[in-house]
Amino acid sequence: MNTSTESSSSSKPKQNVPNVSMAVIFHSNYGHTKRVAEAIVQGARQQLPEAQARAIDVHEVDWEFLDQADLLVFGSAVYMGSVTAGFKTFMDETSKRWYHRKWEGKWAAAFANSGGLSGDKLAVLQQISLYAMQHGMNWIGLPLMPTGHEATDLNRLASYLGLMTQSLDAPPEETPGKGDIDTAVWFGNHLAKTIIKHQPADSRP
Ligand SMILES: Cc1cc2nc3c(=O)[nH]c(=O)nc-3n(C[C@H](O)[C@H](O)[C@H](O)COP(=O)(O)O)c2cc1C
Repeated sequence: MNTSTESSSSSKPKQNVPNVSMAVIFHSNYGHTKRVAEAIVQGARQQLPEAQARAIDVHEVDWEFLDQADLLVFGSAVYMGSVTAGFKTFMDETSKRWYHRKWEGKWAAAFANSGGLSGDKLAVLQQISLYAMQHGMNWIGLPLMPTGHEATDLNRLASYLGLMTQSLDAPPEETPGKGDIDTAVWFGNHLAKTIIKHQPADSRP
């Protein structure tokens, strides 16, 4: 894991357990974006132990976990063509970390959920990618060809900068639909595999 605070005895990785971690930081007022965040974590946990892949609400930030994580996945609902006010507050709260280059060299990725089919989600992914570039992070996109454009298809919205999902006016248990949730699981798995593949040689198990 990307940390300087662990003691040498406790930091030894268990056999065959990758020594990397990731946090999925999200803001969700009504639960739909949260559901997507949890699906990304579900996919990541196909590669990583539970403690090394966590979903974190912007209202309950575990700064220590974020600072030591190798990958930060940022996700917001789209409000008025932008990240939500709650997510923007989180972004602004990281300005001291930006100034001290605390997150430089970490991996970054993003997702956006909206009510509209387009919903101007691209503007949110671009907003977050610019934010990650300000921090000096390295971007991971969504390299997944759409299987089609029906509700059950993977990457049905054909987004490559990051994950796009859409929720209808129904509870989060029902929407976003299967294709979007399956894509989120795929994305989480892909992100975890990427950071495992690129973990520094001196921290490999
Ligand atoms: C204040 C507000 C602004 C919104 N703006 C947009 C928008 O610009 N485009 C869009 O497609 N949906 C918009 N929506 C719909 C939300 O993106 C949608 O309901 C989403 O599922 C909310 O996610 P959440 O359940 O995680 O809060 C807006 C909703 C609210 C409450």
